[in-house]
Amino acid sequence: MTDQTAAPTKSRILTGDTPTGQLHVGHYVGSVKRRAELQDTHECYILLANMHAFTTRAERSDEIRRDTFEIVRDYIAMGLDPEKVAIFLQTEVPAISELTYLFAMLLPFNRVMRNPTLKDEIRVKGLGDTYSFGFPLYAVGQTADILAFRAHAVPVGEDQVPHIELTREVARRFNQFYCGVSDQAEDEDHEKLGGVFPIPLADVGQCSRLPGTDGVNKMSKSLNNAIFVTDTPKQIKKKLGKLYTGRQNPTDPGDINNALFDYVRTFITDEDRVKELERKYAEGDDIGDGHVKVEVAEAISKLLEPMKERRAKYEGDDDMIMDILKGGCQRANAAAEKTLEMAKEAANLKFFDRELNYV
Ligand code: TRP
Repeated sequence: MTDQTAAPTKSRILTGDTPTGQLHVGHYVGSVKRRAELQDTHECYILLANMHAFTTRAERSDEIRRDTFEIVRDYIAMGLDPEKVAIFLQTEVPAISELTYLFAMLLPFNRVMRNPTLKDEIRVKGLGDTYSFGFPLYAVGQTADILAFRAHAVPVGEDQVPHIELTREVARRFNQFYCGVSDQAEDEDHEKLGGVFPIPLADVGQCSRLPGTDGVNKMSKSLNNAIFVTDTPKQIKKKLGKLYTGRQNPTDPGDINNALFDYVRTFITDEDRVKELERKYAEGDDIGDGHVKVEVAEAISKLLEPMKERRAKYEGDDDMIMDILKGGCQRANAAAEKTLEMAKEAANLKFFDRELNYV
């Protein structure tokens, strides 16, 4: 875990998600919860990476558009307040595309291809050598997503850390090339020394790798092991029922580092109860997996109840979502256009003033 107190108050944060369907409780504990906490003290930008979604689903743009709307509903359900955070579309902030092109010039091609998250995706999604040119470009694009807002911190799950590392490299290089910042400068000092970009920190969530209900893989929609906001208590119980731990009897000493106990520690809020369950399970003090699962299922259902209520208000109404996005895009563009102007000025690319308008 990164030290979260490092970011000063009212610093800017930027984060986002690729719209791939509904959000699940893994997203919540991995990052959305943290964003909801930060929204009162930070200037928050939440990006919907709808262009990135084209890396693997370019032929299904209708589906991507639908998923984009759903994710906004889930954000609100999980406690993000569109008055406090700017929820916006990547494709409606042109400064991001322009910075992507510029940053692509600052990064060695081989450095981009060494990004372990890209390599993993190529393997896991079976992309072989048929992926598009835009696929590795998305990693460069992600550096622009972040730097367009001159973000100081990026709340993300652990799998995104390599992208933040690449972002830090681009920011340093830009500041060195165009802003006279020395290559000996400390990361925290770049802005003070006249750099356009702060060197952003990854802010990794409390529990960034919640296992799925298969008890093995990370929770993920595509692996069919996820619990969604819209799941009923009955569905949740059923999904957890399938979580296999390998333990046979309530009197067998159990391993409290298994996936089931990740759930216990993540979702049961009463600390004393967590300790008691851990002790009983470890000692085999007559406590069955089934019992623990029921308690976890109840805790998750309780967590999701207010989320479902909030979500219901936005169900089926795309106009409300459109208004939220429009407001978010306006705020995002105001910030990103300013950054772009600063960056172009520094890199000798500024020729004229310009203004973006939404009609
Ligand atoms: N790649 C991220 C994901 O798939 C989404 C994303 C795009 C993002 N741009 C970002 C996350 C910038 C944080 C910051 O989850």
